[in-house]
Amino acid sequence: MRRRHRLRHLALISAILLPWAAMTAAASLPIVIAHRGASGYLPEHTLPAKAMAHAMDADFIEQDVVLTRDGVPVVLHDIHLDATTDVATRFPDRARADGRYYAIDFSLEEIRSLRAQERLGSDGQAVYPGRFPAHTGNFRVPTLAEEIDLISGLDHSRQRRTGLYIELKGPRFHRNEGQDIALRVLEVLREKGYDQRTGQVFLQCFDDATLRYLRHDLQTPLPLIQLIADPGWGEDSAVDYAFLQTAAGLDEVARYADGIGPWLEQIYLGRDASGEAVLSDLVALAHARGLQVHPYTFRSDALPEGIESFTALLDLFLNQVGVDGLFTDFPDLAREFLQDRRQYRTQQ
Ligand code: G3P
Ligand code: CA
Repeated sequence: MRRRHRLRHLALISAILLPWAAMTAAASLPIVIAHRGASGYLPEHTLPAKAMAHAMDADFIEQDVVLTRDGVPVVLHDIHLDATTDVATRFPDRARADGRYYAIDFSLEEIRSLRAQERLGSDGQAVYPGRFPAHTGNFRVPTLAEEIDLISGLDHSRQRRTGLYIELKGPRFHRNEGQDIALRVLEVLREKGYDQRTGQVFLQCFDDATLRYLRHDLQTPLPLIQLIADPGWGEDSAVDYAFLQTAAGLDEVARYADGIGPWLEQIYLGRDASGEAVLSDLVALAHARGLQVHPYTFRSDALPEGIESFTALLDLFLNQVGVDGLFTDFPDLAREFLQDRRQYRTQQ
């Protein structure tokens, strides 16, 4: 089906099936989620990267969370410390048999003493060479509580209301280590007065069992996002990601979650022989069930094949596909794009 016909078809299905809530979401501007902060400019998940994202007027700022040995939620993407800190030089004899340094083997005090840095690949080279210079700067790994204090303080001084978008990393790994990451995160949110802020906090996870636990056992009222991975990435979940992308799978998701966070290449599938973008039906299927769609990760320095510019990528997802928000390492560029769109709408 050619793109225009396909989109018209999807729009018709959506118009018939979208419930009121989803209609409302679709009518408002999509949200900009600063992925690991303004991580295109400063090392991911450092407080400066979060302050910069705030200054760029991100709607939400993302926190990936793991636990320390003493059960404290810290903001770190990996369950390991080696790709984004100097742990290997500071504690050379603390690796496990696999050669990795696990955050859960270190106390908060030890993790606080590490220097956080731009992400390195297994070859020791910067994953994104055009970003903040590797091995440079005096950054730290923050706790979730410290980061909430920063965002809440900036909200006060800048007169804004910025959301938290918290991912629970490795919940099954943590459970095997005797820790309940969902419970620990909810405790911090309660302490900081964020546990009932349904319009200002999303909780996200690749593991469906953890989302069901949050909804049904811990009874959080916060909106939940089911992340969808590529099976090859080895995310910490037993869920069938192919099934999640079907109508039956999304029927299931709608029972415990409020939206999905797919990889953007599960929506944009490439180009056909005539050069048209090929799109999956994932967004229409999700919207038809009242689920929001927040794909990841939009990077101006790592474009998908067949996409000529970051603007073209944003145009495809925001103007043509119609997602409800997106995760980006460059929140300033997404904000600027949406601002232009708002002006365009005002002129109509
Ligand atoms: O949480 C959305 C997106 O961040 C998932 O990928 O690996 O960057 O946490 P990852
Ligand atoms: Ca994440």
